[in-house]
Amino acid sequence: MRISVVGGGYVGLVTSTCLAKLGHSVILIEVDEHKVDAINSGIPFIYEEGLRELLSAHIGKNIIASTSYRDLSSSDFTLICVGTPSLPDGRADLSIIEAASFSIGQCLIDKEGYHVVAVKSTVPPGTTQNLIMPKILSQSGKHENEIGFVMNPEFLREGLAVQDFMKPDRIVIGSSDERAGDTVQSAYCGIDAPILRTGLTAAEMIKYASNAFLASKISFSNEIGNVCKKLGIDVYEVLRGVGMDHRISPHFFNAGLGFGGSCFPKDVSALIRLAEDMDEDPILLRSVVEVNERQPMRIVELLLRRFRDLSGKRVAILGLAFKNDTDDVRESRAIPVIRELLRRGASVVAYDPKAVLSMRNVVPDIEYCEGASQALTDADACLVLTEWPEFGQLDKEFELMRSRVIIDGRRVLSCENVEGICW
Ligand code: UGA
Repeated sequence: MRISVVGGGYVGLVTSTCLAKLGHSVILIEVDEHKVDAINSGIPFIYEEGLRELLSAHIGKNIIASTSYRDLSSSDFTLICVGTPSLPDGRADLSIIEAASFSIGQCLIDKEGYHVVAVKSTVPPGTTQNLIMPKILSQSGKHENEIGFVMNPEFLREGLAVQDFMKPDRIVIGSSDERAGDTVQSAYCGIDAPILRTGLTAAEMIKYASNAFLASKISFSNEIGNVCKKLGIDVYEVLRGVGMDHRISPHFFNAGLGFGGSCFPKDVSALIRLAEDMDEDPILLRSVVEVNERQPMRIVELLLRRFRDLSGKRVAILGLAFKNDTDDVRESRAIPVIRELLRRGASVVAYDPKAVLSMRNVVPDIEYCEGASQALTDADACLVLTEWPEFGQLDKEFELMRSRVIIDGRRVLSCENVEGICW
């Protein structure tokens, strides 16, 4: 199939590259010229396991990036993968998707034959039907039987996005009509996964509800962990036992510092605002956020039990990315921890295998290191904030510290004499 993808961020770039691997011919439309140049030279501007190899195998052959919407009308369908960031009040900002819909509509004016527009961006229920559809239909001057609309949410985890695309748990296709849904479904031919066909709004809600449930599972594990720590019980042992119930599942039970990233915090906030707009009181979701916001302060409180005053103390931070296998620091739990340490007068020295550059833009005024040993040298304390597996190999390196105060926020260390945030 000939597929155009609008938006070359994490989702758009991974989706385009994987669709090319499936044998489709892909045009990736991205407004940022630098990103387009990088993509066309086979270099992804993000770190994502396996993406670089895949992109360089297909770029110039069956995938091309462009800043222009010009060739969109020659494709069979268009996937919208632009961002829907949070507005200050927590609602989803739909201005980028509205602008993209305008441009797509303009390009479809002269299109001959049927076209499908599928939305991958996370949007509040009703957005495809009430915003995207009318905008594209009015701009293109087409009728509903000439353009079909689909909501096809993504469930890609950063760091595992290529794997998640190729081996998904399910593919959700919500459509305005059967033909539109069939067109998008045929693009996934070759992927072995159950396919759920729904209406547009149900597909939109499935994405929010999935992320809200996963975020709730993490906050639940953290709350149980905080109680277990007081009782001297190992929360990981407890949750292993709980997760063996097939109704619960053992995944996403890693108690620790809480969730960050570009999705869970944004999507839970948007769902809370959506519920409030419907005169509902989303008490459960608000607690999920509250537990998550308190968790980073707990690791600082544990440190304060060891040193009553942090001023002048050298604190080594291991891990800055919001999780392992990514250079992304958006909503990383490391940010509130570092800010609190600085507020209390500590000097912070940090190391991360991939995210030093990105964190420098957010917190420029701390010392960054090229390795864990450098960060640990002469440190009074060490806080582990990201679940990088390489931290699990550290042992002798901790002998470089001035005093051995080590608090693990992610249950990743395997050496002795370590305190856990909630174990
Ligand atoms: C999340 C979802 O997992 C994807 O299914 C979804 O498609 C994506 O959001 C999205 O909406 O686009 P992602 O944010 O990339 O993916 O990363 P996750 O692996 O879900 O981790 C999110 C955060 O939760 C990380 O900060 C991680 O450290 C934390 N986490 C995860 C825990 O604290 N405990 C766990 O057990 C699992």
